[in-house]
Amino acid sequence: MALVQNFMIVAMLLIGAQASSFEDADIGYDLLVTSAGADVPRTCFKAPQLPTSVDGAFFISGPAKFEMGGYHFKSFFDGYGRINRFELRDGEVCFTAKFLNTSYLHAAENLGRICDGPTFYGVEPKLPSCPWRHPMCFLGGAQVDNNWVNILPVKGEGLMLTDSPIMTRLNYETLTVEAGNYPWADSTAHSGGMMPGFIKKAHMPSVGSAHPLRRPKTDGVYVEIMGEMAMLPFEGGEMLAVYNIDTNTMNRSLLAHVPVKGAQYLHSFGVSEHYVVLPLNLKMGMPKSGGLISAFEAGWDGIHVIDLEGKIQVFETHPFFHVHIANTYENETGIVMNLGTFGEIPFSPHALSTALFVNKTSRDIRGNFSQNVERIHLHLSGPLKGNVTREKISPLGRQTDFFKINDMKNGMPNCIYYAVEWFHDDKAYASMAVMKHDLCANQRMYWNKQYSYPGEPFFIATGNETSAEDDGLLVFVTLDGPRGASDFVILDAKTFKEIQVVQLPTHIPFLAHGQFIPHAAKEAVKAAMEVEDPILAATIDSTFQI
Ligand SMILES: [Fe+2]
Repeated sequence: MALVQNFMIVAMLLIGAQASSFEDADIGYDLLVTSAGADVPRTCFKAPQLPTSVDGAFFISGPAKFEMGGYHFKSFFDGYGRINRFELRDGEVCFTAKFLNTSYLHAAENLGRICDGPTFYGVEPKLPSCPWRHPMCFLGGAQVDNNWVNILPVKGEGLMLTDSPIMTRLNYETLTVEAGNYPWADSTAHSGGMMPGFIKKAHMPSVGSAHPLRRPKTDGVYVEIMGEMAMLPFEGGEMLAVYNIDTNTMNRSLLAHVPVKGAQYLHSFGVSEHYVVLPLNLKMGMPKSGGLISAFEAGWDGIHVIDLEGKIQVFETHPFFHVHIANTYENETGIVMNLGTFGEIPFSPHALSTALFVNKTSRDIRGNFSQNVERIHLHLSGPLKGNVTREKISPLGRQTDFFKINDMKNGMPNCIYYAVEWFHDDKAYASMAVMKHDLCANQRMYWNKQYSYPGEPFFIATGNETSAEDDGLLVFVTLDGPRGASDFVILDAKTFKEIQVVQLPTHIPFLAHGQFIPHAAKEAVKAAMEVEDPILAATIDSTFQI
């Protein structure tokens, strides 16, 4: 009997141990890479604490379907994009979610399975050979328009972006995109609207950046980059074109052609009032295996600084990799850049493989994601002229990314950035928090909940340029693991107190970057068009209503 009792006690202890290890297992984290359900029609929720000064819509997208026809992507980054819209006004939050009607998705639906073509990490099981009668089996060029990474707000519409020269048009009201590339007026003939006139002879567009940045103190002039790949060896080497997009006229104009070593790849770069800063550290080689992920190579080529006349200055420092930049601005002696730096290539299987993402043992190895936030100073004058000084400004062992600042401070001196922090409990990668870091006051504030996995926080200013830098709201989507669905959280950016938490009816998988379009923007566009094109202006209510 005693033996049985002992057995029972041991069994109960084991069950208890299993239960407690289950509690520690990042409940619901795998929903970040689990396909979303059907589109969600516009659904409104009461948000009585929403300030009346907030009137507009927040858009954020990400991959949300990861399999089709019995095949699945090995990297969630290849998933079919879906956009989420949160309209904020009159004490309500109205939520709509819709899969992007891209050529990438349509071709797969027509084929009945994932299409052949470039992917980050391949498909399982292996795709069969392309049926020779099916012209849509292999995707390339403008068909690869799965642009769920970021949104560039232009006149009356958004341009959906990824790290390619292809930008697709988003209708803010219908949440539909137009297949193929934006038809730039300055494009050369027969280039599908993409190839700019400034592209070098015998060069082809290769990559773009998903993070064009508005030049401070301009009226809607954004800076963007485009890789130019040499088609012939005797026509010059690889180039990066740095160019302006005037979002009022939609004209593109070249700022500089920057000669670079190899096919440089920049997910983001810096723009201050007088400079563009390109930390060159990663390049695309030939894929060594089935996926694009194997094409990334170390490609350190210094930090290139381009001034308003297009003159280039190169700074050297110990090599690093980067993905995102919090802000870039000028001070008395040079340029300050706050950014996330990596010791290893950031686009690696550990960051992009779905199997490793959902494997707790694997993701909790802290060395996999060695990353810091650094303040880098490029000295343009003074005793250290020509040198780079660096300072780590993030907590040791944690990971910080998805930086966001008050947009009025972009490219200008600022104190505060907001971000997502992983390893918040110093143990688990999936221990996540939203952070506010005030560099001037040397203070951090956090929002976090157990088993809740936030995406990028977005700052919506409620003041003006003379208001406090944190005078506004911080909004983000967070996946509530135990509920199995996502919440839309609105914080007071100053205090980090919750203003409203909206429990959404569905889970939203991994998200990239968001954009807030104020209702006032619609009115401004309409007023401008009434002068330029009254007929078009009359239709604007039906084409741009948020
Ligand atoms: Fe990004």
